[in-house]
Amino acid sequence: MKKIPVSLALVLLGMSLTVSLSQAGGWAVVTLDALPKNVIAGEPFTVGFMVRQHGRTPMGGLRPPPTLALWPANPSKIVAVEAADAGEKGHYSATVNLPSSGTWKWTVRAFGAQDQPLPPLTVLDKEAGSASVGSPVPPPVMPAAPVVPLPLIIGLIGAIGSIGAIIIWKRTAAGPALATAAAGAMIATTGVGLFVFQTAPAEAQAAVQPAVIQPAVGQPDKAQMGGQLFIAKGCIVCHVNGAVKEAIGNFTSFNVGPDLTHITDGRADVEGYRLWLEKWLWNPSLLKPQAEMPTLGLSEAEISALAVFLTSTAPK
Ligand code: HEC
Repeated sequence: MKKIPVSLALVLLGMSLTVSLSQAGGWAVVTLDALPKNVIAGEPFTVGFMVRQHGRTPMGGLRPPPTLALWPANPSKIVAVEAADAGEKGHYSATVNLPSSGTWKWTVRAFGAQDQPLPPLTVLDKEAGSASVGSPVPPPVMPAAPVVPLPLIIGLIGAIGSIGAIIIWKRTAAGPALATAAAGAMIATTGVGLFVFQTAPAEAQAAVQPAVIQPAVGQPDKAQMGGQLFIAKGCIVCHVNGAVKEAIGNFTSFNVGPDLTHITDGRADVEGYRLWLEKWLWNPSLLKPQAEMPTLGLSEAEISALAVFLTSTAPK
């Protein structure tokens, strides 16, 4: 049996890794079941959400599992919580226990390097007195772990394969070795390119400002609630809206849908449009058979708040 040159084996390994990476790629929309309410420091609460590839196809069994990252106003540490499959395909749930009160920022990473921001969480203090009834078990607090740059590894494998092949080619002047070297060089370039591509958003993420839509004191009004839902339901993945710009920091929308900042501009009948929007958000394909926008399973109250938010005065 003829032996495969080590360099060729390395290049093939690099290729298969590149393929599996691109299959795991693409983008997803995370949609929270509901905005967490009455979150109290030291008391666990459950967060449920759907992960849909391109906003449509439910993605179950994701490995690594989707992870929530939460940090307080003074982000010295990040609380990381893994979610697990729960219920229907593509639905996950996570139990979170935050150690201190205040406004917490959080993001969810379903796969790839995409950290989808969620609306700021208001965490309340335990009632005076109950705090002494036994200290709650603190949640696992971990520093932000360095992400293993898989594409960089692929790039290195490709480069090593390429160098190996060049050495073989120099010694034997064999054609296949030269081809192997070329393939190795291509993989090296792809790997390093992917690395640069993946690293950029991660760094941008670190710069997310601890801004809120508007400080939600007490019961937020409907427009404000709609603004939070616009983030929590994943509308931001497909749409830009100037009203939530500050709250989502450096997150970049995929822009597959129209910019919704000025959708009421030039409309005589804003009230009529608001009612139309309620139907649209319920199920876009009922109004437009070829609609690209997915049905996200919103409740009546959520739809109503979103429609108020979308038709309320937008920042210029
Ligand atoms: C997966 C991407 C995606 C997500 C997620 C998404 N949309 Fe859309 N949306 C679209 C696309 C694409 C269009 C353009 C119309 C179409 O579907 O062909 C659109 C259109 C719209 C329109 C314009 C309707 C009109 O013609 O006047 C509104 C308003 C809207 N979306 C609101 C929302 C809200 C609110 C959410 C979150 C609850 C949301 N979208 C989530 C992709 C998305």
